Amino acid sequence: MIDKISQTRTDFDNDLNKISNLQSLEEFRIKYLSRKGIIPQLFDAFKEISKEEKRIVGQALNELKNYAQAKYEELKSKLEAEEKTKKELSLDVTLPGRIKTLGSKHLITQTLDEIKSIFKSLGFSVYEGPELESDYNNFEALNFPADHPARDMQDTFFINQNFLLRTHTSPVQIRLMKEKKPPIRAIMPGKVYRNEVISAKSYCLFHQVEGLYVDKDVTFAELKGTLVAFLKQFFGKDVRYRFRASFFPFTEPSAEMDVWWQPKGKEGRWLEVLGCGMVDPNVLINVGIDPEEYVGYAFGMGIERTAMRKYGIDDIRILFDSDIRFLTQF
Ligand code: PHE
Repeated sequence: MIDKISQTRTDFDNDLNKISNLQSLEEFRIKYLSRKGIIPQLFDAFKEISKEEKRIVGQALNELKNYAQAKYEELKSKLEAEEKTKKELSLDVTLPGRIKTLGSKHLITQTLDEIKSIFKSLGFSVYEGPELESDYNNFEALNFPADHPARDMQDTFFINQNFLLRTHTSPVQIRLMKEKKPPIRAIMPGKVYRNEVISAKSYCLFHQVEGLYVDKDVTFAELKGTLVAFLKQFFGKDVRYRFRASFFPFTEPSAEMDVWWQPKGKEGRWLEVLGCGMVDPNVLINVGIDPEEYVGYAFGMGIERTAMRKYGIDDIRILFDSDIRFLTQF
């Protein structure tokens, strides 16, 4: 038995020297140390020998077992450490990093946010309506006569006889006045659609912000004051503006506001940015508000034009192109 033990130790050392990775180490462990491995089998044989022999053999056997266990653990931690450094070396820390591009708000969204926050500071709340609108809300309730040119197929995308893509945000005034009792003071931002030939100046889709104030003693002077305050905040104190008398079926009297546009190196000109006026009494009657008791003012501005004026953009189409080279400038 003593011979067998020393032979096992020699075999053990020989096998151990051949091991180069964790997988062959595991095979080695199964061969020598697992329950049915060579060394535990020696312990089984040990039970069978005589008492006198047991003393010497027992000692040798325990030595072998401790030796084998220690050698195995030692090699195991060495191989594990090697494997770890191998993994670390395969990570090349000198490679350049990947640049992550961040998205940002579109210029129109930024402009809308700015307009909303200015009007909020002036006491207006924000209200929205749908883009698919009834002919009634878009035209009739706003006092458009049946034969008004804006009701022509040429200018309006009709869905059917009664429904269309709204051509302005003014129908949201109708919705708001039907839903809430005065005093009402709100702005109504959103997309509008017009069946126009696409050019540098016009697109089939654009954004407007509508404004409405209805109460017992609203005046045209307040309307002017509010709009001038807005323009000064939006374009800066030195903005050049003018009011022009105009006409809209749903306001009386009506006006338009222009701001001076001076593109670099080109001739300056007046640019129309909004329409406004006192809410026509017929409109108030249509929504069930008594015009003897209440008055209101309303305004509507084109966002693309306003943004173009502010940022010096001379072609509206670029706002709908999704061209990263343009968008990343803002
Ligand atoms: N809805 C008008 C337009 O699209 C603008 C406007 C709104 C005019 C409110 C007066 C009052 O041109």
